[in-house]
Amino acid sequence: MTDLVVRRLLIDLESPVGRHWCGGDAFRSAFFNALSMSFPVGEQFFIDSVRNGLKSLPAERQAAWKDEVQGFIGQEATHRRIHALFNAHLEKQGLVNDWERRARERLKMMDGLDPRHGLAITAANEHFTALFAEWMLSHADLFQNTEPRLKTLWLWHSAEESEHKCTAFDLYKALDGSEAWRLKWMRRVTFIFLTDTLRQTVNNLQHDGTLWQWSTWTSAARFLFGKHGMIRSSTTAWRAWFRADFHPSQQESALSENWLRDNMAAYTVIGQPG
Ligand SMILES: [Fe+2]
Ligand SMILES: [Fe+2]
Repeated sequence: MTDLVVRRLLIDLESPVGRHWCGGDAFRSAFFNALSMSFPVGEQFFIDSVRNGLKSLPAERQAAWKDEVQGFIGQEATHRRIHALFNAHLEKQGLVNDWERRARERLKMMDGLDPRHGLAITAANEHFTALFAEWMLSHADLFQNTEPRLKTLWLWHSAEESEHKCTAFDLYKALDGSEAWRLKWMRRVTFIFLTDTLRQTVNNLQHDGTLWQWSTWTSAARFLFGKHGMIRSSTTAWRAWFRADFHPSQQESALSENWLRDNMAAYTVIGQPG
């Protein structure tokens, strides 16, 4: 069981966000904007999946999970609310969120399915977010020359993703979720997640008018495929999922703990399991 607290982030989300808010870099801004656009719909799905998972446990086993599930839901609900505020600035910039529309269409197919499917999808996505989170926390220089409030937003979200990375996975296991479906859903989620990220990033760059600038492509190459790039750095952690003895707790989370400890002034704790 993981002790999860819910935090209120003390940052200004009223002031407009610059178009190239991420260190003046068009590609990185478009990429993180794409991820942010997926959060309100995606994180609501994770909340619903974990809530349904809890309800599917026999009544006598639910009490042991209540605090962790409440913490998970509280954290994701805060993320989606804050990212919705951030996304409203993107909309004002003329960016168009197509990811959310596609995701809503796909989610209709989940109606009536065994709740363990939703949990397996959530656990797979959480593996992705946790490994990207750790990568972001270890490459905080990505946010060099970024307004401190926005750097805080992304690193706070990363830290909490790393913190609650076990919840959906553990609940899936507690419900005897099959190994075959765990692996199958990761393959599907990987394809869908990467395709959606790419499509929305390109869409954002198109609307920003920077898709065909040389600097956009050199930044993309460095960010994704460079020596310390996201893909090279994350492949080993992603692959670990396919080991029979995999558990999310095996993956690094010290940076998350350090960030939360060193940045207490950036948030207040609003909920703690009783
Ligand atoms: Fe989140
Ligand atoms: Fe999460």
